[in-house]
Amino acid sequence: MVYIAAAFALLGLARLPAVLAHARVNSPPIRTPGNDHLQKCGQPSFTTLDLDATGHIEEQEPVNAGCELTLCRGMLFSDQPASNVQTVKASQAMEMGIDCTIPHGGPANVSLIDTTVGGAGAFIGSFLKTFDDFCPTTGPTPADQTKLQYTLPNATTIGNKCQKAGDCVVQLFWATPDLSQNYYYCVDVVMAAAAPKAIASTRRKIVKAKPTVAQAPKVVVKPTVNSTPATIAVQPAVQPTVIAQVAVPAVPKKKAHHMASAISKFATTTSVGRASGTALAARGTTAKQNAGRRRARILWF
Ligand SMILES: *[C@@H]1O[C@H](CO)[C@@H](O)[C@H](O)[C@H]1NC(C)=O
Ligand SMILES: *[C@@H]1O[C@H](CO)[C@@H](O)[C@H](O)[C@H]1NC(C)=O
Repeated sequence: MVYIAAAFALLGLARLPAVLAHARVNSPPIRTPGNDHLQKCGQPSFTTLDLDATGHIEEQEPVNAGCELTLCRGMLFSDQPASNVQTVKASQAMEMGIDCTIPHGGPANVSLIDTTVGGAGAFIGSFLKTFDDFCPTTGPTPADQTKLQYTLPNATTIGNKCQKAGDCVVQLFWATPDLSQNYYYCVDVVMAAAAPKAIASTRRKIVKAKPTVAQAPKVVVKPTVNSTPATIAVQPAVQPTVIAQVAVPAVPKKKAHHMASAISKFATTTSVGRASGTALAARGTTAKQNAGRRRARILWF
């Protein structure tokens, strides 16, 4: 590391003129070089990026085989702080703050790039913004270039892409008129619904909710199970004790009346029951019903 730092100091001095930026993206944060880029692309590329984050890819040469300069100047997601990843939604209106420090003019455009396909990545949908003359050499810089506004593709176009941080970038691509200088600026974006934190919190919520939902039915189900005795109560042979309580109010008046009559008739034919039978007859229908209930209880026992 000491060696690298020393090398930077030397190269920094040697390359001071190149430090001047051509167009600087001030917001949101763009990809920056890191150790993984150094390993993949090599020292000259790393050093150039470190000195001038807004320069063109041609000055990063020579690079290692496999270093993809035409995708974010070879800068890798693994080198980016997580806080630099923009959590976005499909069809979201976005803005890039730009300083045209050394105007070149020439075409430029903004696009959402799928980085997972390898190489320079693949466009998702069409260009989000195009300019025929970006950072023009004459006249003032148009307002929509210093506050570059664009809208992300819709949900149908994005599909299930960009669900993972690092999979997608919004890339501003600009070339000078003779195309000898190519500039790439990358903003890491991830779809809101699939942001790692969002997933975690959603899962936590679901886990919390499940027990609540699970408990409620259990509580509701238990009474249902407990109510089975009520059904059993209708079957006297099984639960005589319960029958005594439930059956009394449940006996319809008519039925009680019939039972009372039957008991009365029975009583008149036996010596034991004659007295009570006579008494029942004297008490009238209500008494018969009551007696019927009482008798019913006794009989059913
Ligand atoms: C989404 O965008 C594409 C490309 O611009 C367009 O063809 C399509 O109609 C849009 N779909 C919806 C649902 O807006
Ligand atoms: C996009 O920008 C690049 C770089 O300037 C240019 O070569 C290309 O023609 C542009 N494409 C469109 C459609 O603007």
